[in-house]
Amino acid sequence: MEKIKVAVIGATGAVGQVCMWMLADHPWFEVAYITASAARINQEYAKTVHWLLPFEMPSSIKRTVIDEFNTDTMKQRGVKIVFSALPAEIAMEAEPLLRDQGFYVFSNASALRYDKDVPILIPETNLSTIDMIKMQGYPDRGFVITNSNCVTAGLAMAIAPLRVFGIKEINVCSYQSVSGAGYPGLSSFDITDNVIPYIAKEEEKIEKEIKKILSIDPIVYTYCVRVPVMFGHLEAVWLDFEQEVEPAQIIEAWENFKDCNELPSTPNNPVVYNPSNTFPQAKSAWWGTPKGMEVYTGRLKKKERKIGFVLLVNNLVKGSAGGSIQNAEAFVTRYGLIIN
Ligand SMILES: NC(=O)c1ccc[n+]([C@@H]2O[C@H](COP(=O)([O-])OP(=O)(O)OC[C@H]3O[C@@H](n4cnc5c(N)ncnc54)[C@H](OP(=O)(O)O)[C@@H]3O)[C@@H](O)[C@H]2O)c1
Repeated sequence: MEKIKVAVIGATGAVGQVCMWMLADHPWFEVAYITASAARINQEYAKTVHWLLPFEMPSSIKRTVIDEFNTDTMKQRGVKIVFSALPAEIAMEAEPLLRDQGFYVFSNASALRYDKDVPILIPETNLSTIDMIKMQGYPDRGFVITNSNCVTAGLAMAIAPLRVFGIKEINVCSYQSVSGAGYPGLSSFDITDNVIPYIAKEEEKIEKEIKKILSIDPIVYTYCVRVPVMFGHLEAVWLDFEQEVEPAQIIEAWENFKDCNELPSTPNNPVVYNPSNTFPQAKSAWWGTPKGMEVYTGRLKKKERKIGFVLLVNNLVKGSAGGSIQNAEAFVTRYGLIIN
């Protein structure tokens, strides 16, 4: 099968690097065009990027040349799908422009997430919201599909199978790695040997997004804390339900939450529970198949009516790049791909 040509815009950042790594041997997609900021134009990827991932850079991407952002060139190269890993303020201009020009944009940025006609898609939890692309004019026009904020991605995965019990209240405190702030991100002066109890706009995003993704309306309490680890966000969660729920029912719900859409990037068991008292830990962030796409849960307990647990999500994979690639796979599976 001929592969579908895709672009990665913002390919040198933390999220863009994971896009490049995951797309290097993707069964359906092939990178035909990449961009970064102006200073890198015409440079080979390996010569200019500051590679952050704990694996060797795939050799197939090393000599890819960074292009100037130009939609005509993208069209000439046969690109139809665009993965956007741009900062929100740049995405706010670039993504609507790409959509108007007929591209199918899978975005990691928050710029358009809250628009009424733009889905925040997590295929395991809300696949039918993909049809919102018709409200954007598809198939006559392009569209933007976003993935959620990285903390929300882990939270949505862990609580989606618990919706059957009626979620009344969510109380979540996140312990977020430095890669969540991109590269170069925080100053080492600020984060070395330190914990910072505030991440701008993060708490508001979780509250808004969890309601939009899961179509639920609980009271949501959040604290977001930055911790000095490289990858993976841990979240301590307490839930209150409309009915009395036992820990065994929670474990059963997670175990029965199987891959229902058979996408290349969806793990067989997207939420993996382990009863060990020391699970999950941030250093497991790259575990699983595909690496970083599983959400890990542990420390399950009940106090009065409330259920508590801890989860781990890889912010750069399930929480961003991998999520957007999975969303593109979901689109191709559901709609096929019309190449004009
Ligand atoms: N990091 C996470 O865990 C995470 C999780 C979920 C969502 N997100 C979202 O994903 C997006 C990317 O995040 P990130 O962490 O990868 O950020 P990042 O490391 O700062 O990367 C930003 C990328 O955009 C490029 N860029 C910056 N300014 C540009 C401009 N004016 N024109 C063209 N390209 C420009 C950068 O190129 P240069 O390298 O040349 O500067 C780089 O490739 C953001 O919207 C972020 O909120 C991030």
